[in-house]
Amino acid sequence: MDLASEPEPKVQLTEPVHRMLARLVRGGAALGWVEAPSRDEVTALLGDVVSAVRCGDAALRVAYLGGRLVGFGYWLRYGRPTHRPHADLERLAVDSAAHGRGIGRALTTALLTDAREAGIEVLTLDARGDNTPALRLYQSLGFTEYGRLPDFVAVGEHRYDKVFCMLDFRRGG
Ligand SMILES: CC(C)(COP(=O)(O)OP(=O)(O)OC[C@H]1O[C@@H](n2cnc3c(N)ncnc32)[C@H](O)[C@@H]1OP(=O)(O)O)[C@@H](O)C(=O)NCCC(=O)NCCS
Repeated sequence: MDLASEPEPKVQLTEPVHRMLARLVRGGAALGWVEAPSRDEVTALLGDVVSAVRCGDAALRVAYLGGRLVGFGYWLRYGRPTHRPHADLERLAVDSAAHGRGIGRALTTALLTDAREAGIEVLTLDARGDNTPALRLYQSLGFTEYGRLPDFVAVGEHRYDKVFCMLDFRRGG
């Protein structure tokens, strides 16, 4: 597996990331979308992340297996002036055909290293309450739950908890 830290030109990233996210969401992945995101939506998302990476406000990691994009994730520094030392880890995603092979762990570990090196103080994330694979992964890397909104995430008629987690690098995280 190769882990790229520098974002590729976004035009090359968009297509494989869009395909992977659309497949995951169609399969029910808890990534914040109910319907698969459109190509334009993914283009705009990656554009925002790549711009933020260029000014030191984000890190993006992409995983390749045999030259094929199989995972990605990023963190973004908070925009609110009083929250600027902190960042939010978002949209960690591994292609379902490649689950369980250590790619999610490698991506998250690399993003934590990037956050430490960037001087991020607290890294936050949120996950859907039934997303056991993701929550186990985050807990194993030191994230702790600091709050929960019961039955907050709406997918059709279903409701799931929204779980908030944090890793505080100032306290040895
Ligand atoms: C969550 C996700 C990124 C994990 O990626 P992955 O490459 O399959 O995970 P890894 O193989 O690196 O496993 C890392 C850890 O995750 C946990 N995990 C992974 N799959 C699991 C499963 N089916 N059940 C329980 N825990 C699981 C384990 O703690 C595992 O550690 P271990 O291998 O030491 O037991 C992946 O399942 C995914 O893309 N899911 C859909 C999108 C998503 O939910 N993203 C997170 C949004 S918050």
